[in-house]
Parts: sequence; C-alpha cells; structure tokens
Amino acid sequence: MKNIHLELKNTRQFITDEAVNKFAEKATDYRNDLLNGTGAGNDFLGWVTLPSETDADFLTEIEEVATHFRNKVEVVVVVGIGGSYLGAKAVIDALSHSFDMLTTNNENPIILYAGQNINEDYLAELEEVLSDISFGICVISKSGTTTEPAIAFRVLKQLLEKQVGKEEAAKNIVAITDESKGALRTLAEQNGYKTFVIPDNVGGRYSVLTPVGLLPIACAGLDIQELMAGAKEMQKHLLLTSYEDNIAMQYAAVRNALYESGRKIEILVNYHPKLANISEWWKQLYGESEGKEGKGIFPASVNFTTDLHSMGQYIQEGERSIFETVLSVESANKTLIIPETKDNLDKLNYLSGRNLDSVNKSAELATTLAHIDGDVPNLRIVLPKLNAYYIGQLLYFFEFACGLSGYMLGVNPFDQPGVEAYKKNMFALLGKTGFEDETAEIQKRLGE
Ligand code: PA5
Repeated sequence: MKNIHLELKNTRQFITDEAVNKFAEKATDYRNDLLNGTGAGNDFLGWVTLPSETDADFLTEIEEVATHFRNKVEVVVVVGIGGSYLGAKAVIDALSHSFDMLTTNNENPIILYAGQNINEDYLAELEEVLSDISFGICVISKSGTTTEPAIAFRVLKQLLEKQVGKEEAAKNIVAITDESKGALRTLAEQNGYKTFVIPDNVGGRYSVLTPVGLLPIACAGLDIQELMAGAKEMQKHLLLTSYEDNIAMQYAAVRNALYESGRKIEILVNYHPKLANISEWWKQLYGESEGKEGKGIFPASVNFTTDLHSMGQYIQEGERSIFETVLSVESANKTLIIPETKDNLDKLNYLSGRNLDSVNKSAELATTLAHIDGDVPNLRIVLPKLNAYYIGQLLYFFEFACGLSGYMLGVNPFDQPGVEAYKKNMFALLGKTGFEDETAEIQKRLGE
C-alpha cells in the first residue's frame, strides 16, 4: 500500500540546500534523542512507540465500551479541552459523513463537545438540547483539575443523574484520566465509572492515539484498528529510513530553514472541509511545542477554496513572512459529475462531464503557482485517500516531525510552561483558595 508523501520542490527556489542541510545533518541525532530519551522533555516520549505497543486486546476493550455507548445513547458528549479533545474532533470530522447528524439513522451516536470553552450560552444550550435526549459522557482530563472541563462535567453529570438516576448515570460515564492522581480519578472511583488511563509519559497534545482520542473516535463508529495500523506503518517508516526517504526529517528541516530565512508563519492549507479540524489539532501540536523562549513558527490555517475568497488576498500580497503546507488528498471517496445545462447561462458547460475533484485539483495547482509567484514557499503533504489508515499515518507523521522540529529549533517540544500564566490570573480574579496573594496583587494592578 502507498504511504502519504511529502513534496518539497516548491520550496527550493526560496532556500538554499546549505540552509536545509544545516538542520538535515542533525536529524538522525534528534531522531535518536526521541528513540533513546536523550533529549529535552524525555519523560514525555511515551507517544513514540504507542502504535507498535498498543495491542489488539486493548483496542477491542475500547471498542466494547464504544459499542455500549452506541447501543444505549443518542449522543455522546466528549468533555475535555486542548489535547484532551482536539485529536478526537480532528479525526471524527475527517472521517465522518459531512452531514452525519442527518444521515446516521441512529447507527452511531452524535458526538458533541463540552468543556472546551467556558461560555455560558454554549453550555446552557447544550443542557437544553440534552434534556430530553439519551446521552452519555466521555470526560477526559489528564490532570483532572482543568477548570473548563471540570465545570462542564459538573453540569452534565448533574443533568444525567437527574434524568436517569445516579446509578444508571454512572453506567453512561467514562472517565479518561491519570492512573492514580487528580480529582477526576477520585470522582471516578467514588462513583464507579469505567476508566481508561492517560499514560504519564504522554502529554495532552500527543495523546490522540491513546484512549483520549480512540474512545470518542470509536464511539463515532470509526475504525480505530485501521487508524492505529496507519500510525504503525508510519512509525516503522520514520524510525527506519534515512533523511533522503524520511518525510518527518525533511519536513522538520525545511520548515526550520524557512523559519531561519524569515518565514515566521506556517499556514496549513486544505482543499477538503473535513480536514479543517486536523488543522486545529496541528496548531496546538506545533504552537504549544515550539512557541517558547521568544521563538517558534506561528501555526495558522486556512480552508481552500473557501478562504481564497477572504484570506487569499493576504497570502498573495501581504507581508512576506509566510509559507504554506498543503494537505492534499489524491482522490475523492465519492464521485460527482458536473451536469450540462441547455442554456449554459453560467457559461460552465466547458466543465460539464468532469468530476468535481478534478476542478478542485485545478484550483489547488492554480493557487500553488500563483502563491509561488507571490513569493510564498509551498510544501505539499499528499494523502492517497481520506480514510482511517492515512489519517493514522498523518497524525504520527506530524507528531514525530514536531519532536524533531522542536529539537532543531533548540526548545523542549514537550513542555508548555506558558499556559499557566492565564490560569494564575484567572484563579486570582475568581478568588480561588491558595491564591490570596495573587488576588491582592491583581486587584491592586486593576485599581480595585
Ligand atoms: O497539551 C496539553 O497538555 C494541554 O493542552 C492539555 O491537554 C489541556 O490543557 C487539558 O489538560 P487536562 O487534560 O489536564 O485537562
């Protein structure tokens, strides 16, 4: 079977071989750091071997819990934020029918999300729609103390217990959290919830191939065996091949060379609306891994051709600090032929008889050429098909490349010290116990 591949020909006119080689030369050493745990953040490398070490029995156990949900409820609410939901949403959206809510005929539960914001209207409206629907909750928090999901879970748990009683509710709640510590672990044990563990050595943004991603994906009726098989194939490829064939090493080296030449923003582009949330997952992965110590490529994303009618102008002619990485799917899963009309009022008969994907591919090529002419380097990641196997490959590819790229940049790609700053201020403003000094300080600063 083919693998996903990387095309770099449209970067060559923008950076010299020398600039790329500077990073390429170190790629094998950095791969060894990831494999042997000899680099920064080495206590968070559990994700490296997840595809090869996750056995079939474990996937079956996840599928059995998913089947329980699929047989019993109309909706599963995934409660989590950041790395605790972005991977699941990315994969579910990439692989589900675009209009799933109208087509499933109760075959799969509808997957909804909560705890990924603290918006009152959002949660109140979710409560409203769930009040006369059967639902289950998949609550995911590694720390078990994150404010957003903890509030959402409190509200939804109360609603579910009111609907079906405490004992029955407990059968429709699964908690995915730390093996032994944190509030969610304690709550799960007290209430007898089914639990899955987030391994200690896997950080949130690298956790999509643990139960964090796998359980919600299986609840949506998607094939987690194929997803893992794709990831495993990519693991084999990236661990065994040398730079000339290794797409993660090449991607990491080229993006660092571009960054050093002044390209500070990477725009992940897709021509398939189902990939929009792969970009959201990728933004967290790269933004949280590399944006530190005053360094890091800013990860942005657009959906084409939609955004060519909004962001297209900036990309073509705005400040030249950007490069693009295009996610391209080689062939569509469905066929749709453009019809002919008698009067040809819209002058589109020259396209009649063609399938829509060929028009989309022409739009991609035309845009690439225009953007190269507009001084925008272009990388291209090609998926032979949009299916679970290739999405598994893509996820592992991006994770591995991110580890390499962080090392090339000279940062620890596995910590996120910066995300604490807003939390400290929020706890101080809300008057959380233990934050009395910070509360006094912030009130003074605000002149209260
Ligand atoms: O990548 C990360 O570590 C974060 O985005 C976390 O996933 C996010 O903050 C949620 O944390 P937790 O799973 O502990 O609730």
